[in-house]
Amino acid sequence: MSDVSSPGEDQAGSADLDHWPDLDHWYAAREALGRLYGKTSGHNFPVLMAEIARRIADASVARRAELRARDARRRDDPLWFKRPGRPAYSAYADRFGGTLKGCLDRIPHLQALNVGVFHPLPLLKARDGDSDGGFAVADFAEVDPKLGTFDDLKTLAGALRRADISLVLDVVCNHTAREHAWAQAWLAGDPDYADFYIAIRDEAELAAWSAHLVDAFPTTAPGSFTWCEDIQGWVWTTFNDFQWDLNYANPRVFLAMLDVFLDLANAGVDGFRLDSVAHLWKTKGTNCRNLPQAHDIIGALRHLIALVAPGTFLLAEASEAARDVVPFFGSEAAPQCHLAYNNTAMTALWAALAEGDGAIFDAALKATAQKPAHGHWLNYARGHGDIVWNALDPMADKPRQKRWTRFYAGGESFADGLSFQANAGEAASICGMASSLCGVADDAFGLDRLKLVYSIVYALDGVPMIYMGDEIALPNDRAFTGTDADVRWLHRPAMDWDAAGIATIDTTPQGEMYAYLRMLSEILMAMPGMAEAGPALPLAGRDGPVLAFARTLAKGRFLCVANLSDDNQMVRLRRPSTDLFDGLRLAGATSIPPWQVLWLHEI
Ligand code: GLC
Repeated sequence: MSDVSSPGEDQAGSADLDHWPDLDHWYAAREALGRLYGKTSGHNFPVLMAEIARRIADASVARRAELRARDARRRDDPLWFKRPGRPAYSAYADRFGGTLKGCLDRIPHLQALNVGVFHPLPLLKARDGDSDGGFAVADFAEVDPKLGTFDDLKTLAGALRRADISLVLDVVCNHTAREHAWAQAWLAGDPDYADFYIAIRDEAELAAWSAHLVDAFPTTAPGSFTWCEDIQGWVWTTFNDFQWDLNYANPRVFLAMLDVFLDLANAGVDGFRLDSVAHLWKTKGTNCRNLPQAHDIIGALRHLIALVAPGTFLLAEASEAARDVVPFFGSEAAPQCHLAYNNTAMTALWAALAEGDGAIFDAALKATAQKPAHGHWLNYARGHGDIVWNALDPMADKPRQKRWTRFYAGGESFADGLSFQANAGEAASICGMASSLCGVADDAFGLDRLKLVYSIVYALDGVPMIYMGDEIALPNDRAFTGTDADVRWLHRPAMDWDAAGIATIDTTPQGEMYAYLRMLSEILMAMPGMAEAGPALPLAGRDGPVLAFARTLAKGRFLCVANLSDDNQMVRLRRPSTDLFDGLRLAGATSIPPWQVLWLHEI
């Protein structure tokens, strides 16, 4: 196996951003907001900035001493959310702990996995009935009564903090439920809420907008607009008909959302998952995704939040190709998000498994390495959403993507997944728990495959994420079939605490997976220089079913080499290396058994 060029990125750059003087944050926010709401926009910009200043001052005064002390510590430790071997953990609060109080009892489970960041999926008060898994928020100031109270949330934040785990919450900033008070006030004609949402009353205009838009849910919620009797027009609904897009062209919407962020930050939340960030701004004649104004909104939020709660992070959720996700990090001079979901690596990993070839993953690594040093990837195998192949459009055509869909949902491979939906001509997205997609239940190599998937996720540059249940190889949940729930509920099972209990003491598949994740994390924690390791870059000599990448360390390199096939694969090590799983020294030609992985320290 031949050498790779050394990575040119330096992770240390982030420190400066955290030491920006407050005035600079203010000016930077003002600049971004000026482009959105300044002179030519017809808004009263000085009044807007005065309103913002008042909110920043109030929220700063309200910030508790304990949180301020934590902010101060984090200023000196800018990568506090990216600690080697400390994964994030994402779970529906009800499925994980029943209630927020119930989640408290599960903190030891998180600690056993060395979790550093806990992400309970949307837990603010959602609309009754279908709420898209909580992504249709009816009240940002209240916790969903089924889960508990706002005080329970503060208690959970505090308990996690004491367990050295950060809490990240979703801020569904693109839309609200139609039941939200803002939407109701807008419908009622309350002048304070005028233009909070987007109404179109003319069919020709509707057609003009629609011509450029791509459906988010083409089967379950086709189109981007919903007819509304009350206004005798269509409301903009990118997602479901009950999720009404906010109109950020109105600065009052920005102000209202700023309040949401500042209140949550002061409740002790450490990070914000910005849902559907790509959609925040609409401009006629465009596909209304990733527009420069969406970036200005995020940039302004970053700086304003930094004035009150500098020890918090922003995580971008944008299901786009890497070239469109990377801009959500912003630049060092104009930063936006600290973290972003690495959906390019995620989708490429599943594609590579389907093809039994590491080539597509090479392309994904090259694409995702093109990011500024201050932005970091949240790496994952599965989440609560579907696997949408579009992220790989720049590297794979549609027929190839359709083959992946058939592989995971066609019933003829090791995978037991289901397809969700697709726009015309596109490949349908895939649902299923990682365990089922890897064939753990009935393929001899299933568990090895699941371990391999996670060993790659953990080895990449950034923060690895465990999706609840994967640590015990939890399979699909077929309970959704026959209900109104969409196919994504296939991979949203309740945690099996009996199985998790066994996992800690047994040599069952659950136990093997659980022990494996703990081992991966412990290796990374013990590995000198891992915090500063460079980005993952493909190894040039890689071939066929071998997936391989390297990260440069101060001393030597960290290599991850995986075999995506049912046969042994020979690899040639350029230098003698230590096998990090068993401590043995390897050199020269080395055989990797089917679906096994090597983590090597090459000195
Ligand atoms: C994000 C969420 C997804 C939700 C959508 C609309 O993509 O991950 O679950 O349906 O936003 O809020």
